Amino acid sequence: MKHIISPMDMTVEEIENLLELASKMYANPEKYAHICEGKKLATCFYEPSTRTRLSFEAAMLNLGGKVLGFQSADSSSASKGETVADTIRVVSHYADICAMRHPKEGAPLVASQYSSIPIINAGDGGHNHPTQTLTDLLTMRQLKGRLNNLTIGLCGDLKFGRTVHSLIKAMSRYEGIRFILISPDELKVPTYIREEVLDACGIPYVEVSNLEENLPELDILYMTRVQRERFFNEEDYIRLKDTFILDKKKLAGAKEDMFILHPLPRINEIAVDVDDDPRAAYFRQAGFGVYARMALIATLLGVDKKVQ
Ligand code: CP
Repeated sequence: MKHIISPMDMTVEEIENLLELASKMYANPEKYAHICEGKKLATCFYEPSTRTRLSFEAAMLNLGGKVLGFQSADSSSASKGETVADTIRVVSHYADICAMRHPKEGAPLVASQYSSIPIINAGDGGHNHPTQTLTDLLTMRQLKGRLNNLTIGLCGDLKFGRTVHSLIKAMSRYEGIRFILISPDELKVPTYIREEVLDACGIPYVEVSNLEENLPELDILYMTRVQRERFFNEEDYIRLKDTFILDKKKLAGAKEDMFILHPLPRINEIAVDVDDDPRAAYFRQAGFGVYARMALIATLLGVDKKVQ
């Protein structure tokens, strides 16, 4: 049994196998429509979600399995004081695999230590979001045709954005990757990401505060929202929330074959006039999330070879 708590829980080869499987599932979903028959996915979400929870559920249903779960701490016995450890001991009797989201960093890791079924981290605080990373990698692979030799601009809240932290960790293992980290001073990537990931892997990067000036260099622009729920102070959030707004006019300086990704939800950071630009890939990206999660569920349950 394997748990996926961080993108680093998968080797580059395992990620490549998952992405290859996800591509096959995308091309021929009917071949995989029954491989999870008799299996159940529990979605234990202690924090709000639209894409991650629904795409996990869609993924399991697409594979012929069933889903059960809760969508907030308030609607579970966590509201009565039950610990994550006790909850997962119980859920292990009800399901074959569990996707867990929690506002506290490390909660899915704790769950994995008490679980008898695979745990997938569906986002823990400002820490990791490995299935968003699989989604991002699948999107880049499908649209750009490669995961190496890319200049990637990460823009917005690089301090609290768990999708950014997970993506940097995963991409730092590919060749020819260069990051342009675009954020206000207060929302720069945490020191541990700079020192333990970027510096340790020898990845070239620059930290800048201007989006327009750096746009022409990018192969991928990964926009993120400022994470209101992680701020201690509402005034700081209000001051910083609209620092970067990508609109059609700014996009004029970007490469024709650049793609714009965003884990969503979007607030103000991408104007709606960008949505019909062929480079806007964020809604396609959300769609690829279903296939990335189908591949992960099938692999962790050991049914990935049961193709019809
Ligand atoms: N990208 C993402 O995690 O979206 P949700 O919060 O809606 O799941």
